[in-house]
Amino acid sequence: WQFLYSLKPNRAPLVTYYIPWVGSAVPYGMQPYAFFENCQKKYGDVFAFMLLGRVMTVYLGPKGHEFILNAKLNDVSAEDAYAHLTTPTFGEGVIYDCPNWKLMEQKKFCKAALTRENFIKYIPKIREEVLKYFSTTPEFDEGSVDVPKSQAEMTIFTASRVLLGDDIRRKLDTGFAQLYSDLDKGFTPINFVFPNLPLPHYRKRDEARETVASTYMSLINKRRDENDIQERDLIDHLMRTSTYKDGTKMTDRELAHLLIGVLMGGQHTSASTSAWFLLHLGERPDLQQELAEEIEKVLQGRELEYDDLQNMPLVNNIIKETLRLHMPLHSIMRKVTNPLVVPNTKYVVPKGHYVLVTPGYAHLSNTYFPAADQFDPHRWEDQQKGSEDSVDYGFGKVTKAVSSPYLPFGGGRHRCIGEQFAYVQLGTILVTYIQNFTWKCKVPDPDFTSMVVLPTEPADVKFVRK
Ligand code: HEM
Repeated sequence: WQFLYSLKPNRAPLVTYYIPWVGSAVPYGMQPYAFFENCQKKYGDVFAFMLLGRVMTVYLGPKGHEFILNAKLNDVSAEDAYAHLTTPTFGEGVIYDCPNWKLMEQKKFCKAALTRENFIKYIPKIREEVLKYFSTTPEFDEGSVDVPKSQAEMTIFTASRVLLGDDIRRKLDTGFAQLYSDLDKGFTPINFVFPNLPLPHYRKRDEARETVASTYMSLINKRRDENDIQERDLIDHLMRTSTYKDGTKMTDRELAHLLIGVLMGGQHTSASTSAWFLLHLGERPDLQQELAEEIEKVLQGRELEYDDLQNMPLVNNIIKETLRLHMPLHSIMRKVTNPLVVPNTKYVVPKGHYVLVTPGYAHLSNTYFPAADQFDPHRWEDQQKGSEDSVDYGFGKVTKAVSSPYLPFGGGRHRCIGEQFAYVQLGTILVTYIQNFTWKCKVPDPDFTSMVVLPTEPADVKFVRK
């Protein structure tokens, strides 16, 4: 097959492999950035590799970001790349199980809950959840805390409290939390490869999705029956806004599925980010001290509010630097639906192949970030915000050019809508940790084998109360 591929004119060079169908799955799956670096040395910025029967064409660097993230809707499809993974977990009719214009509108509906006004209300609740977590988790006072686990729990508690409301949050203190865990087990790379095997955890995933969706639907019904639609959380906002521009309304089931998808989109990404910044700070008592001083200077003993976070550059730059070194999604993929000419090259990617973009690789390059392997939040100071052209795909304005080397939230029509929320949630978590603890630890290596790039276990930290 490799020979036949090489005979076709205008194909990107194919990375040699030895096991048919499997191709380069092992080196790519275990160490994607090392794999890309080796390929770049051999083939340059554009190359293709076989991944479990799929041919992936990679374009490294900012030109690749532009090529893939701003590709035309007619030429590439995210839903054809992701739906087999996401639809069984989120449910039907939303995200990648609907036409792209509907996804753009669903993102717009969700953004109604992600405004400054709402963030002001969310912060005290997030803080309360974090403090409650500290006081109800004995490992913070004796022994050590498994940080990837604590941050996954803290993320789900804080996000559920503010986006799904008090009722759903209370349910998480009961068996309901197990359902999220069952859903999660259906959202792993193995599902990406074999979405339809009769595995026991797929049955559990399907049951969990049905129960979670029914719970959300009951709450929606209750609020509607009691005429109790306010502006508390994402559910309230979706109940107000979710009429498509063609006049059709999202059904309650679709709303429930959208809630699952949006919460899941923010869960792993934010949880891994806070785990990584805690681990980096464990190696940097100097930064913990600097953060404590910044926080104290701004708050002067008051409780944290939204505007305070805007006046804490180090807090924000810690998050920014963590997302540079540990972009949670190392690969963003699209399926090619029309032959795609690769700009600045003679290559054409045929219909049916995939394109892969990896901003996380540029994040680690000395070309764009001097001493790129160093955790240095101060590198982001004095950055001028340029006036950039923007474009609106239907869910609000996003930067038109995506040729930046730094794109932790992606770009183009599929760009993340959760960036500001993530900064609010992560900033509040970071401030609350610094106010309560000091800690020391070493940063573990990344583990690339789960859905997001996580610290390799054990990643235990001993916290000392202030
Ligand atoms: C899309 C990263 C948090 C909801 C994306 C994409 C990236 C990303 C890279 C683009 C995916 C692609 O192009 O295929 C992150 C990171 C986060 C984060 C690094 C936190 C540190 C969140 C949160 C939410 C969220 C908190 C929800 C509240 C979404 C949604 C999309 C998205 C709805 C759109 C998917 C699409 O249009 O195809 N995110 N995300 N994300 N994210 Fe996030």
